[in-house]
Amino acid sequence: MPDPVLDVQRILDLDRAHVWHPYGPMPGQQEPLVVESAAGVRLKVAGAGELIDGMSSWWSAVHGYNHPVLNEAVRGQLDRMSHVMFGGLTHEPAVRLAKRLVDITPEGLEHVFLADSGSVSVEVAVKMCLQHWRSLGRPEKRRMLTWRGGYHGDTWQPMAVCDPQGGMHHLWQGVLPQQVFADLPPAGFDAYDETYAQHLRDLVGRHAHELAGVIVEPVVQGAGGMRFHSPRYLRALREACDAHDVLLVFDEIATGFGRTGALFAADHAAVTPDVMCLGKSLTGGYLTMAATLCTARVAEGIARGEVPVLAHGPTFMGNPLAAAVANASIDLLLGQDWQTEVKRIESGLRAGLAPAAELPGVRDVRVLGALGVVQLDHQADVEAATRAAVRAGVWLRPFRDLIYTMPPYITSDDDVARVGQAVRAAARASTEAQK
Ligand SMILES: Cc1ncc(COP(=O)(O)O)c(C=O)c1O
Repeated sequence: MPDPVLDVQRILDLDRAHVWHPYGPMPGQQEPLVVESAAGVRLKVAGAGELIDGMSSWWSAVHGYNHPVLNEAVRGQLDRMSHVMFGGLTHEPAVRLAKRLVDITPEGLEHVFLADSGSVSVEVAVKMCLQHWRSLGRPEKRRMLTWRGGYHGDTWQPMAVCDPQGGMHHLWQGVLPQQVFADLPPAGFDAYDETYAQHLRDLVGRHAHELAGVIVEPVVQGAGGMRFHSPRYLRALREACDAHDVLLVFDEIATGFGRTGALFAADHAAVTPDVMCLGKSLTGGYLTMAATLCTARVAEGIARGEVPVLAHGPTFMGNPLAAAVANASIDLLLGQDWQTEVKRIESGLRAGLAPAAELPGVRDVRVLGALGVVQLDHQADVEAATRAAVRAGVWLRPFRDLIYTMPPYITSDDDVARVGQAVRAAARASTEAQK
């Protein structure tokens, strides 16, 4: 017998009693909304009706919810096999996905490790870099360099390369591996400062003897502050890494699959990293899966070591359901004129967010691809801002001083306009709540 369906109050009571939410206190002091179902770009929320999802479930649901093609991909795979271990076994969905990722990512990335979350894919990326040099007899090359303002996930190695002060993990300073930090990249996709590029080159050169790799989020720093920077710094990093025998890792977990207007943010710079992490929208937001890709050079280095294997093997590695829906999601994306859709949303967000620049309490407004950001001059009042967005019929999840949105690519012009109104209402409400 299936469990009886819980009513909304019971869900909230049990949630409060037992359930930990992302970055949430325990026991729960914040009242979450109860989602009953989701279809297209709308979440059906108990007591609040239908809300347009302005967050794509944290960058992932690019095609929206309950999509017939993605549903069918999962259903079809479910009837064949939902999971099987990946050690010693392989299967069509995972192999097809790996080939597809090799084909669509920058030229030169050839080997694919299928991880079970974005953070794990970053762990694997760092392990690849360290092991590459260890295998080549250079174990002293074991630090990573990154720039300030980054975010790479919540497990140990990713936390060590998140922003050490402003980020969520400053609590662990002194406990995490000590990495090398460059200054914050100058703000603006179109701004370029040669002095900063030289700062990157100098730092890579100075620390090259101890650096296994450089890891950055290309073009957009996400949860570290939703900042945009010039793709030209990626080229400077590529040159510096090549000159000094350091590997270059791009974390495209947030930026991958079109969000910034290019299929991968690396494409803005025409740069191939040595290692690349993908996740989030890889499965269209249906199931958890991430991927770490690397070049033949990185893999061959590892293979030459005393331990010639990449010693990482999650139980759910290559999960067939996730791989099947990832294949369907990529087909769906590339089978349409996704650039036009992302540009359309970009124009809608520009129009909708521009008036926010005139609001009191707003420091900056910026849009790139299907990502819009209103930066406040104060810490957002999350409760007041969320309530205002919900009243405007939109789900947003502000953090720090940011009210931001990355709607699914299928969001209609009218709905993008409503998202814009909701972001403005949330900014206004947050500023009001300061008084
Ligand atoms: C750039 C980046 N890297 C890594 C991660 C971690 O991914 P996950 O939450 O799937 O572990 C995130 C998640 O927000 C991210 O934005």
